[in-house]
Amino acid sequence: MSRFKAVIFDLDGVITDTAHYHYLAWKQLAESQGVHFDHAFNENLKGIDRMGSLDLILASSSRTYTPEEKLALADTKNLHYQELIATMSSKDLLPGAVEALDAVRRAGLRIGLASVSKNAFTVLGRLGITDKFDYVVDAATIARGKPDPEIFLKAARELGVAPADCLGVEDAVAGVAAIKSAGMFALGIGHPFVLTEADVVITSLKEFNLAAY
Ligand code: G6P
Ligand code: MG
Repeated sequence: MSRFKAVIFDLDGVITDTAHYHYLAWKQLAESQGVHFDHAFNENLKGIDRMGSLDLILASSSRTYTPEEKLALADTKNLHYQELIATMSSKDLLPGAVEALDAVRRAGLRIGLASVSKNAFTVLGRLGITDKFDYVVDAATIARGKPDPEIFLKAARELGVAPADCLGVEDAVAGVAAIKSAGMFALGIGHPFVLTEADVVITSLKEFNLAAY
C-alpha cells in the first residue's frame, strides 16, 4: 500500500490555517515598528521559529533592538496570536486533513507532527486531533529551526523509523528544505513554483493519496 513507514506532518498551513493567524499577528507587530508587511514577505516566515521570524522583520527597520526589546516584541506577537487561536475548534481543520491522517493510520504507518510552533500542543487540542499522532515533537526541545532537519530527524527517531522511510508534509519553503536535508520524501502543500524542492506538490490534503508517492 505504501513504501513509507511513517508520515510526519507540519501543522500550520497543512492541517489548519493558523498560517493566517501568524500573518495577522506579525503584520500588526511589524507595522507597530514602522515595517511594511505583506503576504509576499510572510511567505519567507512560514516554518521559521518565533525569534527567527522577528529578526527577519526587524532587519527592515531603521533602528536596532536590544535582546530585551526583541523578547518583549516576540511576547506581544505571541499574546496576540494566542488570542486569535483561542476560539479555534475542529471547524478550523483544513479540508482533507482528518481524512489524510486516518488514511495513514489505516495503512498501518506511524504518524508524527513536526511543528516549530510552541503553541502546537494548544492548537492540536483545540482541533481535537491530539490522539491521532503517535509522536508530537515538543518545539521547546529543538535547538535549530527549519530549514535545519533537526525537527524531522527527531520525529523519525522517536517514531523508530529511518529517515529514508519517512514522508514529510510541508507548506513552507523552509520546511520542505528541512525534509529534504533530513533525507526524506517531501510532499509540498501549495504551489510547485514556490515549493520547488518538493518531490511532489499538491494543493491541499484533499488531494492526499498515500499510494501515489
Ligand atoms: C510555525 C509557523 C511559523 C511560526 C512558528 C513558531 O512554523 O509556520 O509561522 O512563526 O511556527 O510559532 P510559535 O507559535 O512558536 O510562535
Ligand atoms: Mg507550515
